[in-house]
Amino acid sequence: MSKPKRRILVTSALPYANGAIHIGHMLEFVQTDIWARFQRAQGHECYFAWADDAHGTPIMLRAQAENISPEELIDRMNAEHQSDFRDFGLSFDNYSTTHSEVNRECVEIIYKQLEESGYIDRRNISQFYDEQKGMFLPDRFIKGTCPKCKTPDQYGDSCESCGSHYGPTDLIEPRSAVSGTAPVMRDSEHYFVRLSEFENRLQNWMTSGALQPEVVNKMQEWFEDGLRDWDISRDEPYFGFKIPGTEDKYFYVWVDAPIGYMASFKELCERKNLDFDEWWRPETETELYNFVGKDIIYFHTLFWPAMLMGSGFRQPTAVFAHGFLTVDGAKMSKSRGTFIEARTYLDHLNPDYLRYYFCARLGSGLGDIDLNLDDFVTRVNSDMVGKVVNIASRCAGFIQRGSNGQLAGKLPEPELYQQFLDQRELIADDFEQRNYQSAIRRIMALADEGNRYIDEHKPWTLNKQEGQQERVQAICTQGVNLFRVLMTYLAPVVPFTAATAGEFLGVPLDQWSDLDRPLLNVSIHPFKPLMTRVDPLKVEAMIENSKENLQSTETPAASELDLADEIEIGDFLKVDLRIAKIVDAAAVPEADKLIQLTLDIGGETRNVFAGIKSAYDPADLIGRYTVMVANLKPRKMRFGVSEGMVLAAGPGGSDLFILGPDEGAVPGMRVT
Ligand code: MSP
Ligand code: ZN
Repeated sequence: MSKPKRRILVTSALPYANGAIHIGHMLEFVQTDIWARFQRAQGHECYFAWADDAHGTPIMLRAQAENISPEELIDRMNAEHQSDFRDFGLSFDNYSTTHSEVNRECVEIIYKQLEESGYIDRRNISQFYDEQKGMFLPDRFIKGTCPKCKTPDQYGDSCESCGSHYGPTDLIEPRSAVSGTAPVMRDSEHYFVRLSEFENRLQNWMTSGALQPEVVNKMQEWFEDGLRDWDISRDEPYFGFKIPGTEDKYFYVWVDAPIGYMASFKELCERKNLDFDEWWRPETETELYNFVGKDIIYFHTLFWPAMLMGSGFRQPTAVFAHGFLTVDGAKMSKSRGTFIEARTYLDHLNPDYLRYYFCARLGSGLGDIDLNLDDFVTRVNSDMVGKVVNIASRCAGFIQRGSNGQLAGKLPEPELYQQFLDQRELIADDFEQRNYQSAIRRIMALADEGNRYIDEHKPWTLNKQEGQQERVQAICTQGVNLFRVLMTYLAPVVPFTAATAGEFLGVPLDQWSDLDRPLLNVSIHPFKPLMTRVDPLKVEAMIENSKENLQSTETPAASELDLADEIEIGDFLKVDLRIAKIVDAAAVPEADKLIQLTLDIGGETRNVFAGIKSAYDPADLIGRYTVMVANLKPRKMRFGVSEGMVLAAGPGGSDLFILGPDEGAVPGMRVT
């Protein structure tokens, strides 16, 4: 498998320097790290450059609250973040901060180019100002009563109760969240990037394969609404970089944050003697990938590429967006103890467990990912411990005791080894496409094969018979080699376990091409337990500990009500639920999520569009039963009229459940 060597730079989003890392962040960082490690394992040159996002109002205010300088705060956070990341096995090549001189230079170069090319505008705008604090207030620092539903204590940009979006001036009785006083309107001059100038270029970039289909759809909506100028300046007091040529204007944090990717890489270039320009000039063969959460797509698919276009740098080869982590089917919650900090996790559990679980759940789309704690325990124990590690532990002792640690000179079943190698390209393709869950499925299917082989040949029985030692050695050599292939495929996912496995085998497991030749005629080392079972008591302890964290944090969490509002029994009785038989099902090609269902509710058929494509193959649905809301007002959708709604349970993504073919279910039957 000799492929041309690629040159790849990857990044994760830069975590804010005003708080601890939690396992939601870790989902993204693990996703990125697996990809980087995977690329290196293919023999490619791959760097992971990264940093803390150190600027902005929240960081300034938090430092004030702690009575320290912002520099002190961000230094402390940077050290904490880096130690969390190392202990999670993240293989970044450089970890910097956006508050660095290198970043300041990069920002100034880009700004100067934008300005000289006429992309910067200046004009006065009017904004809320806190006279007591002497500062302009960002939308999130203004609170008041929602103009729509009249819920008090809502942020200046949107209402958490009714979900409507508005501007801060629409709030009833606005208050500064910093001082509690009523803000006044004040004028000041702001700097803008004229985004519309980049519309065509952004459209071309968007359709160059750089973005996931869901993201392209979102962008199309933004283009339809028209690209508005982007406000890139903030007034004093602000913690950030001053705009050159001004006395009291600062770059908005989202200007220097993505440029931090570039600056961190530049530091790496200086250390490793790499040619920075080769990586950042427009017509480069090198590749750049930004991994981001779905909440910050806008910044990465409009502002970031526009800044690069306007200043003569390359654009990202692709931006990879992912969904959000939920725990046990709900948003992480401090009161339930599911808002788990990275450090709290590490205090109780092996990082490879979580890395494995995230990997087994991640696909290439934007769907949210659920960490179901029971499933986490079961899955890690049955896959990693019960299947993969098991192969090695069943063979190691016989090799050690019976053959003095020596592997046989040839494999008894080279075809089986070859069968494992035949999956290499497919598994590699899954990782490349970020379809990690599919890679794991393939690897675990092979692990099943490996265990089956050992079950069949029973070295523990042969071992007791006269003259079978060579046979036992051969079988166990086969087993150890199958284990080596599996662990090599899994090394990007579980680096700590892979390192221990490498010590046991006496060879590193970091290059997939090494598998071309099996491990023969060499001695291996005594077996050490590679991964112990997840102890559910430790999971519980971690949850308890996360609840304790709640009392120690000063800032109260935003409302974490996960239930819908209470309803009266009368409200419930209005919903007419009926058993429906799925008589036909077809995917809606233009929609990512939708399946068109034809439902029989006894004497009547209904056409319903259901967002369950991620979980079902339409063909599998035909003949099954579900429960539908039969009296929902028909709704016109882009693809037709939907005449009801089907009920499904589960956290979403590929985990959704509807009823199976159920004995005794009759279409039209009322559900009570
Ligand atoms: N500082 C910005 C990013 C600047 S990039 C130039 C930021 N920081 S963050 O700390 O809020 O988030 C960092 C990353 O973690 C983001 O990509 C965000 O989407 C991701 N996540 C934060 N919470 C998450 C979950 N609960 N689940 C998955 N990803 C999450 O945004
Ligand atoms: Zn509201």
